[in-house]
Order: sequence, then structure tokens, then C-alpha cells
Amino acid sequence: MMAVTARACANIALVKYWGKRPGPDNLPATGSLSLTLAALVTETTVAFDPTLATDAFDLDGEPADATRVTPFLDLVRARAQIATPARVTTRNDFPTASGLASSASGFAALALAATRAAGVTLDDRELSRLARRGSGSAARSIFGGFVRMHAGDRDADAYATPITSAMIDSVRMVIAIVGGGAPKTHGSRDAMEHVTQTSPLYPSWLDTVPRDLATAEAALAANNLRALGELAEANALAMHATAIAARPAIIYWQPATIALLAAVRTLRGNGRAAYATIDAGPHVKVLTTAGDADHVARALAGVEGVTATTISGPGEGAKVIA
Ligand code: PMV
Repeated sequence: MMAVTARACANIALVKYWGKRPGPDNLPATGSLSLTLAALVTETTVAFDPTLATDAFDLDGEPADATRVTPFLDLVRARAQIATPARVTTRNDFPTASGLASSASGFAALALAATRAAGVTLDDRELSRLARRGSGSAARSIFGGFVRMHAGDRDADAYATPITSAMIDSVRMVIAIVGGGAPKTHGSRDAMEHVTQTSPLYPSWLDTVPRDLATAEAALAANNLRALGELAEANALAMHATAIAARPAIIYWQPATIALLAAVRTLRGNGRAAYATIDAGPHVKVLTTAGDADHVARALAGVEGVTATTISGPGEGAKVIA
């Protein structure tokens, strides 16, 4: 059967997805809002191959564990009414599984490549719902630029949609890698579950997110980067507060993470646009402008423990490339 290659960019949430509703459909507890990034790209090739006994999965040139890939391919096979195993080859141009959102670009690219290889063409909304089953944040990587994930009341309503904002032309994100992108200790899936069940701060997180989403959307509509950035930084710190308060605690930060937060405040004090966000890992991503991005990247590169910095502009939605 035909091999299809799709490309998707990772996204970084400005209002985080952090917690699921119960049930098998991987439904988020709340909505979220993100920026898709051109610098973090996954390319995935899928071919359904009747000569295979089971799915074969290669990640960055090495055979890899298909534990999360096979159940996802089963969803695609069910839609296509086939039972054929697949060969999946994925390449990330950034450190995998280290809090750099490789599951978002990974499942977005896989959703697109696998459906097309199986002969199924889904519209973007259906593709977003499907990608969500692999990873909640992947639903957002179907789209480029600023993206809103809708929690919905049920499976059919939990998908992402793009947000138009004049800010798209000037926004940049500087990614500061801490500790060389070492694998993280708590995958976001297990961490969310643990936080939901044990953190005394989780109920107030659920109260906070709808307000934060409204503030972020208003900031985008008004092309107000400062309002968006201040909100994004506060939202990320609230998410980490829920994790730190879990029992036992989940602490993603390393000393360099805290030093980066201080450097970002200093940059702001010096009149630069710089607003931090942090996911399930030690790295810090800084929202800034095209005009300030080089200065911000240089300042962050000088923080002890930072091993690399990348400046990214907004990325495109998932697409078939071969
Ligand atoms: O999509 P998942 O299950 O990898 O979860 C993503 C969780 C965060 O990156 C911490 C937040 C987000 O909205 O991307």
C-alpha cells in the first residue's frame, strides 16, 4: 500500500492543558490556547504493509516502543475498516520527550499520515479530534499560528480551531534548553492524573483556566502582546504550582529554570518584551517580538545551565509532504 509522509510543528501552550476528564476518549478537563512553532518539526511516514506481523515503529532512526502508536493506529484502522499492520517512521528535529512537546507534533503528523495512508481523508476538525486521542496537545498542532482547544461537553466537541490575530506577524518564541534535553521524569499523562487526584490546588486551577482563556483571547483580539505574555507566564506558574503541591510533589524545574525566570524578569525591567512559559520539563520558552528576539536569545544563552537557544516564528498546520 501507499506510503504517506506528513509534517507537523509542535505547539507551546500559553494557557495550559493540564488535567483530563475521566473516560477513554482523552477529553481535556478545560480548553487551552497555544502557538504552533516553525522551529519544532516532526516528519512521519506511514505505510500499511500486509507483510508485517505487527506494527513497526522507528523514532529518530532507531526501533522504538509502539505502546502508544499501536492503539492510535487501531483507531485509524477501525475508521478505514482494515486490519493491516503499519510501518511508521518518525523524525523529530528537536529533543524527544523532554518537555518540548514532541507528542503534539508527533501525533498530529501521525494522524494525518496514517489516515491518508489508509485511504481516509478527514477535514481539519476531525483530524484534530483524532490527534487528541493520541495526545491532548496534538489536537492543536493540526493548525498553524495561534490555536484554541475547546474542551467541549463530549468527544465530538473536543477539537481545536485556529485564532486569527494581527500579532502573528510579530510574535516570536525563544526556546531555552536546560540540561541538554535530558528525558523527563514524569510524562505529562501520568503527571496530570497524579495532580488531579492529589493536588489540593487542582480545583482552583479548574476555576482559573476559563478566565485565563478569555483574557488570552481578548489580548489576541486587541493585538496586545504584553497582556498575552503576562497572562501566559501567570498561567504556566499556576500549572506548576498544582504539580508542586501534589503529594508526592512533581517538580519539573532545575536551577537553570529558576535562573531563566529571573532573567526574563530582568529583560522586562530593561524594556524588552519577554514572558516565560514552562511545560512538563525544565526548559523555558519565552514569548517575545521579532524586534527583541535576538537580544532575548543572547541573554538567555548566558544563563548557567542553558545548553542551547532557538528562536522560532509561528509554524504552519499539519500537511502531507509526500
Ligand atoms: O498532550 P500532552 O498529554 O503531552 O500534554 C501536554 C501538557 C503540557 O505541555 C504541559 C501543556 C500543554 O497544553 O501543552
